[in-house]
Amino acid sequence: MSTALRQPTRRRRTRNHALVGLALLVMGVANGPVVTRAAETAYTDYRHSRPAYMKAYGKWDTAELPEGFRARAIHSALLYTGDVLLVAGSGNNQQSFDSGTFETVLWNPVTGAAKHIDTPEDLFCGGHAYLPNGNLLVAGGTKKYEVLADKVEEAAGVLTLKNESETEDVTLPKGTEFTGPTGLSYRSTEKVVVPAAHKMADYSLMAGAADVWIQAEGKGDEYVSTGGKRFTVTGASAEESTTLYGTADSVTHKKQDYRGLDASYIFDVKKEKYVKTGRLTMARWYPTLISTNGGNILAVSGLDEHGRIIDGNNEMYERSRREWYDKEDLHRFFPTYPQLFRLRDGRLFYSGANTGYGSTSKGRQPGIWDLEDNSFQKVTGLRDPEMNETATSFLLPPVQSQKVAMVGGGEVGDGSKATNRFDVADLTKMQPTYKPGVDLPGQARYVSAVTLPDDTVLLTGGSSDYRGRGQSDLHSSRLYHAESGRLAHAAPNEVGRDYHSTALLLPDGRVMTMGSDPLYSDKEGKMPGRFETRIEIYTPPYLHTGTRRPQITEAPKAVQRGTTFHVEATSRHGIVKARLMRPSAVTHQTDTEQRSVAVDITSHCPAGDTTGDCCKGGCDLDLSLDKREGIAPSGAYMLMLDDKLGVPSKAAWIWVE
Ligand code: CU
Ligand code: CU
Repeated sequence: MSTALRQPTRRRRTRNHALVGLALLVMGVANGPVVTRAAETAYTDYRHSRPAYMKAYGKWDTAELPEGFRARAIHSALLYTGDVLLVAGSGNNQQSFDSGTFETVLWNPVTGAAKHIDTPEDLFCGGHAYLPNGNLLVAGGTKKYEVLADKVEEAAGVLTLKNESETEDVTLPKGTEFTGPTGLSYRSTEKVVVPAAHKMADYSLMAGAADVWIQAEGKGDEYVSTGGKRFTVTGASAEESTTLYGTADSVTHKKQDYRGLDASYIFDVKKEKYVKTGRLTMARWYPTLISTNGGNILAVSGLDEHGRIIDGNNEMYERSRREWYDKEDLHRFFPTYPQLFRLRDGRLFYSGANTGYGSTSKGRQPGIWDLEDNSFQKVTGLRDPEMNETATSFLLPPVQSQKVAMVGGGEVGDGSKATNRFDVADLTKMQPTYKPGVDLPGQARYVSAVTLPDDTVLLTGGSSDYRGRGQSDLHSSRLYHAESGRLAHAAPNEVGRDYHSTALLLPDGRVMTMGSDPLYSDKEGKMPGRFETRIEIYTPPYLHTGTRRPQITEAPKAVQRGTTFHVEATSRHGIVKARLMRPSAVTHQTDTEQRSVAVDITSHCPAGDTTGDCCKGGCDLDLSLDKREGIAPSGAYMLMLDDKLGVPSKAAWIWVE
């Protein structure tokens, strides 16, 4: 290959230099080069930098956050300012958790400006969704890290306390001593309030109940207690112990799961800080948050404050009151981080994909959940239905097609089984079912799916085994063409992305990928993994055509659903498509925000003009927006216009009301 020999003089970094040169905006904070050299071999670097290659497959560039700002991008959200919010919290790092070091970084991918945001609690593995005003509601997080069985010394578990006194709540401080069924001692690790009993409609007495975590005073197996035996408060009289007592099903030396937090904050984009709201009614670790018609936000699933999977209790954030309310009428069980999508009529589609916890059988059925009456319509036909853990699902562009794809995924637990499945459900059908689409080249978990303004979807990264085990990170990307169902090659991502990786569309039409939390750093699985903090930015083929991009010269600040609005642009090749791209807020391949809304171009070129030449000297476009809230939920969007060659403009931010 003689071309390989010529490469050193031909390396082209023009794009990157242009980026770096783009003024380091002053935020009173660190700035750094936005794009640095990819650690590719010289040959692939050359091959992948040839114009013809980039035009066909796009181009990846590696970037580094400035020193001191390399946050673990477990949660990533594109804000309407163009900044990217990277939330790590304790970042899956026990030491950071123990020292109370919780991290959030605000980064501007154009200027490279970075800023630390005060993070009041450990938001690691919470959920998030946008409010109609563009602020991000973040709820849930980590109260305590897991303790593996070999690290558990004293038997411990949940004690369910009962209060049969009708007159008073009972408060037991942290460290309260309990006497177990065989006379041994245990202590609570937190304060608990056990509410008073109350009379039921039939005048029977319902004891007040509350759970508290207890730990044995000694290390032996004699402290293990299962099967709901009775515990009492040490020192209480026999009479007192008839009205206040506890039972424990599982005080053991078993692994203790991560415990959820009831934190809830608004990330205020203008103030660039977290603002407190009312707390969740239940602590949640790995919840999914999704905004619903009307702009309130539903929180679903998660592990509770004691590390148990929540048994179907869901709750709603009411934005006018800034409070969370238990939704007893929406009781429904999902595994943790269920992937939910709002449909055109306001119902929610559960694709079946999730990440984290849940049994193999319960809550695994995909379907459409009607929040009006809590009914659930099953969607059948999904292949490999036992491999929905760490799968990826997304609404096909444009969202009006009401199709959802389900890509890859693995078995429940940490086994190696995974699938290359790519199935699509058409949810406009009376009885929707999944149908086989075009399968991935190999089995994959943790694939990132990013919808682009030309109705393609970038599928990138992931790993074939659990958390990249055996160095199974996939250096492979594809462009899925939603209309034809074709899967086209794309330039391979350089950086591996598995667990705790995220990706999102940027306002300039590029894609940013970040994070990754492999279990090991070596093939044999002997060395602990290292969290990936490099960023990689993908420039799709549509930015390598060599032609000038369409440019939006005038657009309204806000538009109402169901109305027509006026936009002006310049373009060499006409304007054939308009899309409102909802910015992503993603974690664990779960993104309830991302969607591409087609906007009809009602006045365009004069009738019969198919050349697009009418745009010379400026295109006047009348765009009419869908009237359904379930298609275009209120909030900030990126308006992008595509020309005849499929080249998109940079975004103009528009508020949908
Ligand atoms: Cu996680
Ligand atoms: Cu035109």
